[in-house]
Amino acid sequence: MLLLGLESSCDDTAAALVRQMPGQRARVLSSVVVGQTELHASFGGVVPEIAARAHAEKLDLCVEKALAEADLSLADVDGFAVTAGPGLIGGVLSGVMCAKGLSAATGKPLYGVNHLAGHALTPRLTDDVPYPYLMLLVSGGHCQFLLVHGPDRFERLGGTIDDAPGEAFDKVARLISLPQPGGPAIEQVAKAGDSKRFALPRPLLDRPDCDMSFSGLKTAVLRTRDKVIEQKGGLSVKDQADLAAGFQAAVTDVLAEKTRRALRKYLDHAPDVRTLCVAGGVAANKAIGHGLETVSRELDCAFIAPPLSLCTDNAAMIAFAAIEQSQLRGPDDLTLSARPRWPLDTSQPAMLGSGKKGAKA
Ligand code: KG4
Ligand code: ZN
Repeated sequence: MLLLGLESSCDDTAAALVRQMPGQRARVLSSVVVGQTELHASFGGVVPEIAARAHAEKLDLCVEKALAEADLSLADVDGFAVTAGPGLIGGVLSGVMCAKGLSAATGKPLYGVNHLAGHALTPRLTDDVPYPYLMLLVSGGHCQFLLVHGPDRFERLGGTIDDAPGEAFDKVARLISLPQPGGPAIEQVAKAGDSKRFALPRPLLDRPDCDMSFSGLKTAVLRTRDKVIEQKGGLSVKDQADLAAGFQAAVTDVLAEKTRRALRKYLDHAPDVRTLCVAGGVAANKAIGHGLETVSRELDCAFIAPPLSLCTDNAAMIAFAAIEQSQLRGPDDLTLSARPRWPLDTSQPAMLGSGKKGAKA
């Protein structure tokens, strides 16, 4: 099965070709991602209308490039997979309409895929991880623990009740005059910082569940920054580094402790192969990765972090998720609709909050 995947739910336009041969592991033949960072830079966040227009302009170019890189044509493709939600509705619509056009023109099947399922199934593409495994999804728009039982069976063990961690990194970077995206900028300056100088909170650790909150932590950084400015008339490079290091350490502690709790719940299911997986841009952070790896070692679990290109938004994960799910269900038809919200685990109450990168599910 050779699927062409499309992704346009946030601020990356992507197309990819993934092939699965019987009895073999799926292979990514090409994966094209075109970002929009510069289009949104002056607005301090993703502007949905601008994003949707850019996706509509770039999708066909991404498809052409993905086909050219794999040295294939539309005639070789067996079907089309597209992110049908959750995300910014204009962007999701651009992708869904493009995929419907391709499907209608070629007469080949169309698969609507949940973006979060794409992230959550990636460890099976990269590392052949057997079900069930625990997935921590941490990006600019999402933060949740998913117990992955099968290609379309996900149990949400907890998640953020307000901001996603990446969003908090971006906002804190702005507070201490660092560039966007905030995550890599904070990680860089935090190297020279003293994480213990400022006492910052570890929100919701007093609650026994796996839910998290990062909005109060961001406000605590703001108050601490204002106090320093009041006392010294400004922020020195040292103050900036100490604030960055303190914030990063607080996020790491919260994610590590909540992961410990989620892992215990997961281990109650007595999995044959005990595995913690991460996905999302924040997983690129070395301190956070180290914290998560330490917890998984402590609980005798393997730790899998896919390469960054497959951890952040991409279309290969969408094509692969459709291949996995096609074992359980047939294709969609042209009535497939774009969904701004689409929780993976409908047995749980909806998550609160809505981040700059779209609705959280
Ligand atoms: O998964 P991603 O590329 O896009 C979506 O959110 O969908 O994640 C981007 C987020 C941004 O908020 C960025 O600041 C954060 O991931 N990020 C990081 C690091 N690299 C990217 N956060 C912390 N440390 C990093 N090294
Ligand atoms: Zn994503």
